[in-house]
Amino acid sequence: MEKRRGKLIVFEGIDGTGKSTQVRLLREYLESQGIRVVTDYEPTRGEWGMRVRAAAASGKRLPVEEEVDCLLRDRREHVEQLITPALERGCWVLLDRYYPSMLAYQGATGIDPIELQRLNESFAPQPDAAFWLDIPVEVALGRIRNRGETNDAFEQQHFLEACRRIYAALKAPWWRQIDATADALNVHTRVLEYVKVLLGELS
Ligand code: TYD
Repeated sequence: MEKRRGKLIVFEGIDGTGKSTQVRLLREYLESQGIRVVTDYEPTRGEWGMRVRAAAASGKRLPVEEEVDCLLRDRREHVEQLITPALERGCWVLLDRYYPSMLAYQGATGIDPIELQRLNESFAPQPDAAFWLDIPVEVALGRIRNRGETNDAFEQQHFLEACRRIYAALKAPWWRQIDATADALNVHTRVLEYVKVLLGELS
């Protein structure tokens, strides 16, 4: 077990929900409170994460067993090299995606989400809070189109509906649903309500 002195905060949701904006806003808030922050995302840009990204960008995902294998290797490296050392130094770690993404995306591709949760929790520290930024799939796809981006192999309507259903079924004390159809500052306010509870635990 790591000796956790910082907090691990995760943002989840299908693409187009505003996760990276929320990571930035929370980082700014925490730094204004004198807290040291590390931000990152998964899949990482390491060897294993890049295999999954490259396949999805080409429009053809890897076979799901291979995807799970690559993403677990990627996460294991991330935990060992970045997440655990930063938490031990007392930094707060903010992540744009973590293992709930695997439950949702590889779960929606046919692997049992409960089994995936067990596999991940055998080595990956559980978050102190994971904010699920929830919006209807059509709204998310509209936002992606408005950014001028084309959909990659993960971003298809029926598939994302299945991901959203798995997010909705996830059970953990740290899992918090937030309505992300609201504007970014509203969502940030909801995030802060809970982050202030975590800050209170430190004082
Ligand atoms: P994404 O956050 O969309 O990266 P970018 O914004 O740079 O495109 O991540 C890429 C995809 O990886 C995303 O569609 C979800 C998927 N993914 C999984 O399928 N399983 C996982 O465990 C993780 C972390 C991500």
